[in-house]
Amino acid sequence: MQSDAIRLDGKAAIVTGGAGGIGAATARLMTARGARVAVADIAFDAAQAVADSLPGAIAIQLDLESEASTQVMVAQAVERFGRLDILHNNAAFLGPDVAMRDGDVEAMPTGIWDRTYAINVRGTMVACRAALPHLRASGGTIVNTVSNLALQGHMIQAAYSSSKAAIIQMTRSIAASHGIHGVRCNAVAPGMTMTPALREAFPPRLRETVEAETLRDRLGEAEDIAEAVAFLASPAARNITGHVLVSDGGCSSHVPGIAGFRAFFGEQA
Ligand SMILES: NC(=O)c1ccc[n+]([C@@H]2O[C@H](COP(=O)([O-])OP(=O)(O)OC[C@H]3O[C@@H](n4cnc5c(N)ncnc54)[C@H](O)[C@@H]3O)[C@@H](O)[C@H]2O)c1
Repeated sequence: MQSDAIRLDGKAAIVTGGAGGIGAATARLMTARGARVAVADIAFDAAQAVADSLPGAIAIQLDLESEASTQVMVAQAVERFGRLDILHNNAAFLGPDVAMRDGDVEAMPTGIWDRTYAINVRGTMVACRAALPHLRASGGTIVNTVSNLALQGHMIQAAYSSSKAAIIQMTRSIAASHGIHGVRCNAVAPGMTMTPALREAFPPRLRETVEAETLRDRLGEAEDIAEAVAFLASPAARNITGHVLVSDGGCSSHVPGIAGFRAFFGEQA
């Protein structure tokens, strides 16, 4: 049974990083549920290609590191759609070259830390700030994308994971400040999600290590994360704010060592 409450008919949305794996899947799903979507990305040609494939969508050039560019993104979306109901902060400072240099704090170049925080944390804050007057007017909502790495310690990506933890706290602050004005703010925390970029770049041996920790039979896909985002953005989530919805196939929900237990009891069977 499909509830009408998950529909997004008449809503206008911005998806930052909308040219990427999860962002494009979310733009597609929001469009399928009835929204008009602004696909905003630093990779403009790719954003345009996504927008061209979706009825009612537009592409916007965005550099989240620039406050002016982020303000222009919101202004362009509002000018085109006449309103703004959903801000989905999905873009992040990513890529194999970045991830390789973002390790433990002792070895990390300070510039990697600074750019990670400038794009992920300050960029998200500026986007929220620019969107809030319009979201107040529409009774709209913000969905921030974080990561399950923000919830547990790891030996990799100290800058990325702590920047995502900062976004979780920002999510709660915005929810607490603006709920009374009718604006909800939530976060989605994906686990490893098999986007085209990650499928190409992630070392197979490490992928198998993560697969062994999932409680499903496979790792998540971009469409799985899009479902969580579209739900939080929809009227079906009207009573949910300040929440972090983890979508990681249960990777972060169990005690350490489950892969070994699974192997042991598998051997016993
Ligand atoms: N894929 C995963 O396994 C995974 C896991 C946890 C969290 N996430 C989060 O999901 C979100 C999407 O990740 P993805 O895997 O689809 O990545 P992706 O690299 O496919 O997409 C990210 C998009 O952000 C854009 N972007 C980067 N810097 C930008 C900037 N300064 N201004 C505007 N746009 C910029 C990129 O051009 C790209 O299109 C990110 O927030 C990421 O941290 C992903």
